[in-house]
Amino acid sequence: MAVIHIRQTGQTIKEDSEVRAFLESQEVLYEYWDPTKLPERLQNECHLTDSDKEEVLSTFNEDIRSLAERRGYKKWDVIALNEQTPDLDVLLKKFEQVHTHTEDEVRAITAGSGTFVIKGAETGYFDVNLSPGDVISVPVNIPHFFTLSEERQVVAVRLFIDPEGWVAHTFDDPDFKKAQ
Ligand SMILES: [Fe+2]
Repeated sequence: MAVIHIRQTGQTIKEDSEVRAFLESQEVLYEYWDPTKLPERLQNECHLTDSDKEEVLSTFNEDIRSLAERRGYKKWDVIALNEQTPDLDVLLKKFEQVHTHTEDEVRAITAGSGTFVIKGAETGYFDVNLSPGDVISVPVNIPHFFTLSEERQVVAVRLFIDPEGWVAHTFDDPDFKKAQ
C-alpha cells in the first residue's frame, strides 16, 4: 500500500482509506492490483527477460484493459530497472528533475519499489512511496518526478495514450528547492 509523506509538514499518511482520500483530493488516481497474481518466480523479481515482461502483462491483462478503457489509454509496456540496468545512476539523475507531461503518467508497480514526488496545489511537494500492487496516475501538467527507493529496483507497467507524445517538459521550480 502506498505511503504518503508531505514534505512541508513532515506528515506521513499510511492508513489505506486516508491514503486514498488524500490522493483523490490531489486528483491522483490510485488503485491496487494484487501482486500475488504473478507466478511465484516473478513476485518481487526485478531482473526480467522479454518473455517475463510478457507474462507480467498477461497476468494483469484484465486490470490493464479495465484501466485503459476507463481512462483512454491505448498502449502499455513493462519497464524493469535494477543494478544491472546500464547507466542506472545517469538515468536516475535524469528522472530526478521536476517536470510535467501533456498526458497522464501511469505506473503500476508489480515488483520492487519507487517514489513519485508530486507538487500538490496547496500541500506543496509530497512523496508517494509505492510498493508492489500500487497503481498511480499523475495527472496532466502536474509537476513531479520519479525516483527509486533504497533497494534501487522496480518493475512497472506503464500505460500511455500516445507513447510517442509522452515527453518530459522541465519545470524549474524555486519552491521545490525550498522543499528539499
Ligand atoms: Fe514524469
